[in-house]
Amino acid sequence: MVANKNFDEIAAKAAQDFETNGYAVIEDFITQDEIATMKCEADKLVQEACSNPDHLVTFNYDTIYKNDYYNKSQDKASFFYEPNAIKDGKLVVPAGIALSKIGHALHAVNDTFKQFTCNDARVQALFEKLNFEDPTVVQGMLIFKNPKVGSEFIPHQDAQYLTSDPVKLAGFWYALDDASVENGCLWFIPGSHKWPLARRFVRTGDENGGDLFKWTKPMPDYNDDQFVPAPVKRGSLVILHGLVVHKSAPNTSDKSRQAYAFHAYDKANSEWQPDCWLTPQPTFLPLAKSAKA
Ligand code: FE2
Repeated sequence: MVANKNFDEIAAKAAQDFETNGYAVIEDFITQDEIATMKCEADKLVQEACSNPDHLVTFNYDTIYKNDYYNKSQDKASFFYEPNAIKDGKLVVPAGIALSKIGHALHAVNDTFKQFTCNDARVQALFEKLNFEDPTVVQGMLIFKNPKVGSEFIPHQDAQYLTSDPVKLAGFWYALDDASVENGCLWFIPGSHKWPLARRFVRTGDENGGDLFKWTKPMPDYNDDQFVPAPVKRGSLVILHGLVVHKSAPNTSDKSRQAYAFHAYDKANSEWQPDCWLTPQPTFLPLAKSAKA
């Protein structure tokens, strides 16, 4: 879409949902051509990964504490593989469906994704409706959730990883495929953005070869019954409040569930916390003021 006369109304409704539920869905936010542009760029990146088959680092909750590749991905487009795509150091699924994600600065180092993040008037208009005075993008990533291979994301609040004080963070999640319960759509606890930050993923500061990162507390016991699914059609935008509790299940289907997601905090009204895993980088980018729809 979306540069049409109804956009102001759509953005206002999204801001209202964001305030009430902690998340909002805008259908048909991006056109089929725009989806194709992002998917084409994603394919190029996957091919790049396939041409470097020896560099197989997983995104794995058990080993992330010591993962220096993850640490160094803050300002790059780094490739992370699915834990169950690799066994004994070798790929056990086709390379084209082995990636978990590419991040964490895709919004800055890749012109295509930069365009849809920092230089898009629709994005700028939405942040204005969300009352962000100086939206500053800190992270951009492609999330693959490939058929049969894509793994779960455990319940979390995005501000656990990306903390500013007070929390003023929003995630923009572009569905590049239909996302369903079967292929691992997002699930939310509506209204949980009014809960406090449950825990944080921080740097340990250890300089003696110990863990790089740690959780400040164990994960709270969430009740599965509290979560509601948010299935969306490709082209939809999901906006996430930094405090809303959400998760996604493994993709047990034969359909891809690809997404591009970026996060921004309000630099004018919130202070980035220095012990975040993600430290201030030249890739922390403001939205371009002259963005055109
Ligand atoms: Fe998240």
